Amino acid sequence: MTFTPSTILFGGDYNPDQWDTETVREDIELMRRAKVNTATVGVFSWSKMEPSEGVYELDWLAEILDRLHAGGIGFFLATPTASPPPWFSLAHPDALPVRPDGARLSHGSRDTYAISAPAYRAASRGIARALAERFGDHPGLRGWHIHNEYGTLDYGPHAARAFRAWLRAKYGTLETLNAAWWTAFWSQGYGSWEEILPPRATQYLHNPAQAIDFRRFCSDEMLAAYTEQCDEIRAAGSMAPATTNFMLPTWNHLEQWAWSDAQDVVSIDHYLDTRGPDGEAHVAYGGDLTRSWGDGPWLLMEQNATGISADGRWYTKSPDRTIRNSLGYIARGSQSSLFFQWRQSAGGSEQWHGGLVPHAGGSSRAFATIERLGGILESIREVIEPPADGRLSDAEVGILWHADGWWALETPQMPNDALTYSDEVRSTHRALWRSGIETDFVRPGAPIGRYRVLVVPCLYPMSEETAAWLHDYAASGGTVVVSYLSGVSDENLRIVGGGFPGRLRDLLGASSEQIDVLGPDETVDLGGGLTGTEWSELITLHTAEALHLYEDGSLAGFPAITSNTVGSGRAIYVSTKLDQVSRDRFFADVAAGAGLTETAPGAVGAGVEAIRRRGRDADYLFLLHHGDETVDVAGEGVDLVTGGRIEDGFRLPARDVAVVRLRRGATVRIGAEPSASSR
Ligand code: GAL
Repeated sequence: MTFTPSTILFGGDYNPDQWDTETVREDIELMRRAKVNTATVGVFSWSKMEPSEGVYELDWLAEILDRLHAGGIGFFLATPTASPPPWFSLAHPDALPVRPDGARLSHGSRDTYAISAPAYRAASRGIARALAERFGDHPGLRGWHIHNEYGTLDYGPHAARAFRAWLRAKYGTLETLNAAWWTAFWSQGYGSWEEILPPRATQYLHNPAQAIDFRRFCSDEMLAAYTEQCDEIRAAGSMAPATTNFMLPTWNHLEQWAWSDAQDVVSIDHYLDTRGPDGEAHVAYGGDLTRSWGDGPWLLMEQNATGISADGRWYTKSPDRTIRNSLGYIARGSQSSLFFQWRQSAGGSEQWHGGLVPHAGGSSRAFATIERLGGILESIREVIEPPADGRLSDAEVGILWHADGWWALETPQMPNDALTYSDEVRSTHRALWRSGIETDFVRPGAPIGRYRVLVVPCLYPMSEETAAWLHDYAASGGTVVVSYLSGVSDENLRIVGGGFPGRLRDLLGASSEQIDVLGPDETVDLGGGLTGTEWSELITLHTAEALHLYEDGSLAGFPAITSNTVGSGRAIYVSTKLDQVSRDRFFADVAAGAGLTETAPGAVGAGVEAIRRRGRDADYLFLLHHGDETVDVAGEGVDLVTGGRIEDGFRLPARDVAVVRLRRGATVRIGAEPSASSR
């Protein structure tokens, strides 16, 4: 299902159960003033919706939803299952999650549930059904927001039972499981299914195959809980689209490709983790990932209007940044600009978290920003109509993504704990972003003929099929760039012998017989201005040639970066972790070698981020000016934000935005030097 609302959804989480009638009346007035058209209601309202077991009190909610609708504001209705009420935990203590160390958590925060506990699952189905029966055909309903940020892991008895059932379905016999998990090591051979446990706290390292299977199980188990709720909603006759908001943080508990397949539209919550300029690259990363997961339009379900949480502090997000970031997501396929939350909470755990209406109220700089954003979104609303072929981006670079890579690098036997999947992927994306090159993320086995370059960062476990797919891609003309720690093991984290990376030796035409981990402050010179960190390998060339050698250190004189001709394409191997400056340079060269150019000539140099979003009859070029000087924009097209025609002379002030409607495939030129013409 392609999710195409009639307008860009603007608004956010609305928690009126915290407020009195007068405040709710003011809320709706302020929403209308700012052109807010969407509220997400009920995310954490379980105790008010079901004050005691099986007793659903929904009249208060009906009143709120009717008032929103009467005010012209649609809503996502959330199932509140991320926050079971106190009575539930008291009645069902077995449904509280257990940590790896055996401690059972108490009620007192949120997200405190054992996903496999039958009582929790039954209560979740019950409330989903009750909401759908009452509100499933409400005219203001835009969609279902199931749960909130699935991600609580449980290691208790219910999880153990469900994990065993999952393993039985996967492996069939204990013999197969024992072989897959290599249980002969450390006397771990299992003689009955009951002996198998989640990876609970134990004396020393866990079995890595058990650890990664548990992560896969948790993702599947949460997906089953999601699907059950959707089934209840459909059984009650509601056909409104359903989604759940992924979190895109420094942890990852979901296998996003499988999850995305199960949703009508993919949505994420995205919070900047730095107040520095890298926040802009982070927006791009979140947007590109989510567009790719859903292979089309998606929803930004939450961001913070006024704050950035980093280093244990709440920093203020400047108004211009709120606007640029919001447009950054839309440029990358979002159909919405939604926030957490509408009005800052006066009390409770997140009283300092930003809101569209700050503590100071509607007469504030923060709210004026929201009003400006509402105006901009209305003026650019045509951008969300998708092209006939459904493809929103023209990206010709793909980055291979799979949660297995993330989870594998978190298993306990890895030779360098400083290396993380997320860092490798994000640094690579950042490097391409800094060159102004648009990027998709790619799922193993997907059609990839349209990419000129495919990057494989740290996908440690790899199936034979994925390796063959990469080979076919290169053979038919693509450029594959493989990083260290990719294709080293099979899917069960058993190393493929005969030289690393076992799955990709043929593709790379090179192999390494030994790794050589670098110390925390150690670097290695690769020549040509490139520097490696953290990792190096003793490489032998078979059919490949060396592009860079290790110039110093224990591997001086050995190849560091290699290139192998494969059919009409090639495979490059980067056997060390490039530092960011080197990585930027390296990927700029790879992109140039593959004939890729920045989206708008001159943009990067001028500090402007240019992103193309393909629309129904035109392309839309989003220009987000992160720099400090006014720049000239030359070409042909209309800026939807101001209504100005580019050809009439167009200047983009520092920190401002433009959304240019262009002929399909056309672009603009950006000059750092302002001309005499004025905007
Ligand atoms: C999100 C969550 C919201 C709110 C927000 C604060 O992860 O869904 O409910 O807690 O974080 O940043």
